[in-house]
Amino acid sequence: MKKLILFGASGNLGREIAKKAMQQSYDLTVVVRNAQKAEKLSSITSKFIITDITNASSIANICQGFDIVVSALGKSVSPNDNSKCTFNEIDLIANTNILQEAIKSGIRKFVYISALHSEKYLHLEYFRVHHEFSELLKKSGINYSIIKPPAIFSGFLDMMEMAKKGQLINIGKGDKRTNPIYEVDLATACVDSITPDNVLMEIGGSTIYTRRQLFEIIQEEVNPSKSVKHLPLWTFKLMLPMLKIFNKNLYDKFAFFLAAIQVDTIAPQIGQMNFEEYIKMKNSDSTKNLGVND
Ligand SMILES: NC(=O)c1ccc[n+]([C@@H]2O[C@H](COP(=O)([O-])OP(=O)(O)OC[C@H]3O[C@@H](n4cnc5c(N)ncnc54)[C@H](OP(=O)(O)O)[C@@H]3O)[C@@H](O)[C@H]2O)c1
Repeated sequence: MKKLILFGASGNLGREIAKKAMQQSYDLTVVVRNAQKAEKLSSITSKFIITDITNASSIANICQGFDIVVSALGKSVSPNDNSKCTFNEIDLIANTNILQEAIKSGIRKFVYISALHSEKYLHLEYFRVHHEFSELLKKSGINYSIIKPPAIFSGFLDMMEMAKKGQLINIGKGDKRTNPIYEVDLATACVDSITPDNVLMEIGGSTIYTRRQLFEIIQEEVNPSKSVKHLPLWTFKLMLPMLKIFNKNLYDKFAFFLAAIQVDTIAPQIGQMNFEEYIKMKNSDSTKNLGVND
């Protein structure tokens, strides 16, 4: 049985990768930052390493005895994430430290989740760090998989709360197109990519939507009595330079969003589930959970 160590397992994609890896009979160990995160994954695996991945010395020899490394580690792009770490510290430095450990321990396969078209937008921090780490991985000599999705469905979950309150805002025309992918479909591709050599895969969902359609699907499902608000692009552009001075982390996220909404971001249509079904499923889950808590 191949031994797999997974970083970023507590994330939306990482959790699904953990489930797929178990289904495909890998001997799975997940790395998490604290016991609460481990507890939330305990229905999937009982093998945990609890450590601080931002500290190179605390991950010394972490890959020893494993065959495969999967990293779904990355700073969250959610506006609700207030963590102090930067994209550079997590997506680039922490992943590079993991890669060095992987090289040292003779790891046979390293799977990394990058971002579609990262190579085109190197002036934006989010894309630069994904691209730079992908290049380091390619040159490392380790057999790699670099998986490049556009957006992941779970990245839209924050918007369900906004839509409930009638606070969902579309910036600009919303006419640019993309095909986000369901995290389970993406996780399947990540785990399936372990066997073949040196995989570079762009992968999106089955259906292409405009940004505006994605918002309208959410609004219609969670609260059709409210409607999506619209703001012109210039309002957002005006705010960015100020944000850069006062909150660089938030600036990097908003600069990424601004770039993303102005271009078509379409990957090969591989995923199975469509966005309408996904939002319906998540909305029904959240209604059931509310019922339990009540
Ligand atoms: N979401 C998207 O639409 C999208 C699109 C393209 C590419 N990607 C890439 O796909 C990967 C996975 O995305 P995702 O949506 O699953 O992200 P996510 O839900 O935000 O999960 C990120 C993971 O990284 C961990 N992490 C972040 N900062 C950390 C820190 N300081 N210390 C320890 N762990 C830390 C998180 O741990 P905690 O749970 O402890 O915070 C979590 O396990 C990322 O590389 C992302 O850039 C995402």
